[in-house]
Amino acid sequence: MFILSALLSMVCVFGAAYAWEPKCDSLGFQIIPKPDCSGYYLCVFGKPVPMPNCPPGSIFSNSAHVCVPENSIYDDCKDYNGGRPVIPDLGPLTVDEQCQINSNALIPHPTECQAYYNCSMVYKFIPRYFEQHLMECPYPEYFNAETKQCEHFENVKCGIRQAFKDGCDYRRNLCPVAHCVPCSVRMPSCEGKEDGIHANENRLWSPYHVMCYKDRFVSSDMCKADGNGRAQLFHPVKNQCVSLDEIPQEHGGMMPDCVGKKDGYYLDDFGRCDRYSVCKDGKYLNAVQCNAGEVFDAFTEKCLLKEKACGPCGDLSNC
Ligand SMILES: *[C@@H]1O[C@H](CO)[C@@H](O)[C@H](O)[C@H]1NC(C)=O
Repeated sequence: MFILSALLSMVCVFGAAYAWEPKCDSLGFQIIPKPDCSGYYLCVFGKPVPMPNCPPGSIFSNSAHVCVPENSIYDDCKDYNGGRPVIPDLGPLTVDEQCQINSNALIPHPTECQAYYNCSMVYKFIPRYFEQHLMECPYPEYFNAETKQCEHFENVKCGIRQAFKDGCDYRRNLCPVAHCVPCSVRMPSCEGKEDGIHANENRLWSPYHVMCYKDRFVSSDMCKADGNGRAQLFHPVKNQCVSLDEIPQEHGGMMPDCVGKKDGYYLDDFGRCDRYSVCKDGKYLNAVQCNAGEVFDAFTEKCLLKEKACGPCGDLSNC
């Protein structure tokens, strides 16, 4: 900090050494900003007339010719030659050099919007994928270069810095050790997906599904048991949690197989008698629950009282 103020006072001394006089170019209307950006002169019949200065905390914009908040994005004072101390352009300095000038500096990473250097944070051991002073916003936040803090991604202008949407592009989410659950499994990419719930592509036909918002991963969740306490899996085509009865058998479910069967009602594949499956066009449509006390009769293809039913579920044997 001390070095910076020394630099600034030097510039001030030099700035003051050159006397500055406003000069009107013609007899017409003309605004001449003061070199220190505190206000302006108005040319009246070829004569510069000083106008009241901008209110405290604001400066006169050379380009917009109005008073604007000091150090805001509209503050263009340093872009113009004048007597106001010009803050040295720290761009070409290395991070270490910038931290020597200001040990509390927060410096946006030049190419990654989620990353920044925090000079007051000094690593004893630099984490894998990081460098000294490098920090990262929590996913999916970005570092706001104006407010110098991590903010909601929708409120940050990244400019030329790359704005990662995939959580696995954040360094902090990469595996810090050789053996860890890969990032793409922990936080699947939501890029190109609509807002809402989606299958976890690394765990298809499992209870896992993910929530996406604006191409960002929000959470990984699991299907809850259904109303009867039975497990459910996430169906990637139906895009919702369904009972095992709606999960094809090749994916670990108990969905009746209707392939090659004529349209009709069939005994349950898993031997449950209080219900039957409906097949149509070689596809399973749904299961129908019998009334209490009834079982499926394979011959009439109806639910009947057990003592009146035929087939494996009924009591009658000579049908
Ligand atoms: C910078 O690091 C200091 C010291 O670790 C910490 O207190 C501060 O919160 C950090 N600031 C940001 C924006 O990360």
